[in-house]
Amino acid sequence: MPQLARRFRTLPPYPLTDVPAIKRDLKARGVDVIDLGTGDADLPPPPAAVDALRAAALDPGNSRYAFQMGLVEFREEIARWMGARFGVAVDPMKEVAPLIGSKEGIFHLPFAFLEPGDATIVPDPGYQAYVGGTVLAGGEPYIVPLRPENDFLVPLDSIPAEVARRARILYLNYPNNPTAAIAPREYLRDCVEWCRRNDVILAYDNAYSEIAFDGYRPPSILEIPGAREVAIEFHSLSKTYNMTGWRIGWAAGNAELVAALTRVKTFADTGLPFTIQHAGVAALRSHAAWVPGNVAIFQARRDAAVQALREAGFDVPSPCGTMYLWIPLPEGTASEPWARRLLLEQGVALLPGKSLGEGGEGFVRIALTCSEDRLRMAAERMARLLETSAV
Ligand SMILES: Cc1ncc(COP(=O)(O)O)c(C=O)c1O
Repeated sequence: MPQLARRFRTLPPYPLTDVPAIKRDLKARGVDVIDLGTGDADLPPPPAAVDALRAAALDPGNSRYAFQMGLVEFREEIARWMGARFGVAVDPMKEVAPLIGSKEGIFHLPFAFLEPGDATIVPDPGYQAYVGGTVLAGGEPYIVPLRPENDFLVPLDSIPAEVARRARILYLNYPNNPTAAIAPREYLRDCVEWCRRNDVILAYDNAYSEIAFDGYRPPSILEIPGAREVAIEFHSLSKTYNMTGWRIGWAAGNAELVAALTRVKTFADTGLPFTIQHAGVAALRSHAAWVPGNVAIFQARRDAAVQALREAGFDVPSPCGTMYLWIPLPEGTASEPWARRLLLEQGVALLPGKSLGEGGEGFVRIALTCSEDRLRMAAERMARLLETSAV
């Protein structure tokens, strides 16, 4: 077999490859595993989306290729939704691209813009598609640690001039996975200015824009003056509507960026299935009636988990967005061995911070993907491990 390409070999190692097998084995032995590892909600999608999918499947026309244009009604509904939610106007034909999940667009964007040696600026810890897309497109990720002392924001003034010169894309994601941090508007203004000054694309990952608590309403980057010149924003139906497995999202923003991404996609896929786009239209239309109830479930889970974890001895903040808690471990505790012991000894699966980049070391992430009672039970089990490791 030919050797693997150098860029393939420089991909970060895939962490935790044995965890699914360990979980299977524990369950087979009768262990009640509480799985808080993945941001994949246990809750159902909006009934209107399921009904629309069922109806769409009966129409043979929907079995044909959707191509990149897809369902015009879906594009129009996205534009209407962006207007209603953020007060931003996007042209449904030129400034919107339907995606097979937002990950797909995030991954493909660098293929349109990176020359060998070009850099992207990647927050660490962070969503691994930023690194994967950059490396496989031949670029170099410049890793910026997200630290509590910076409120988990990318400190733009720490980026050396030499990196800024060869940077083509800055990835930002707020509300943030995994730290659950949010970005103040002034900070977003600075980011847009920085990108304009340095001629860098701002790839704004807004997958968690709708999972926000206590009245907080995360903004779109397109609300920020000047953003339309440099920004493309990624949205997902995965988290907002509990539709992770349906693979549907969109990109919106600068028309040239959207067109370039669309052109890359014409070589990679033949469009998002019409059936799923019909379901997407129904999901977006159900927003006002359905989303607040779903978010209230996450907020109640957050409250239950934060309280139980604090009682268990963890110094965890109460975030105002995302479906995650980012939990600091006791000083000097390595996250991967701790998470492994937690799974093997206490039957709780969570994500060690290091699996999302070196900058995540010392933290673990739990996803609020089970009931309040199960979250309390998980916190008790975590406390037990804390007791046995504190000697
Ligand atoms: C920060 C972030 N961006 C994007 C995604 C991708 O979502 P999807 O491809 O399901 O739309 C995820 C999924 O976990 C995420 O956490």
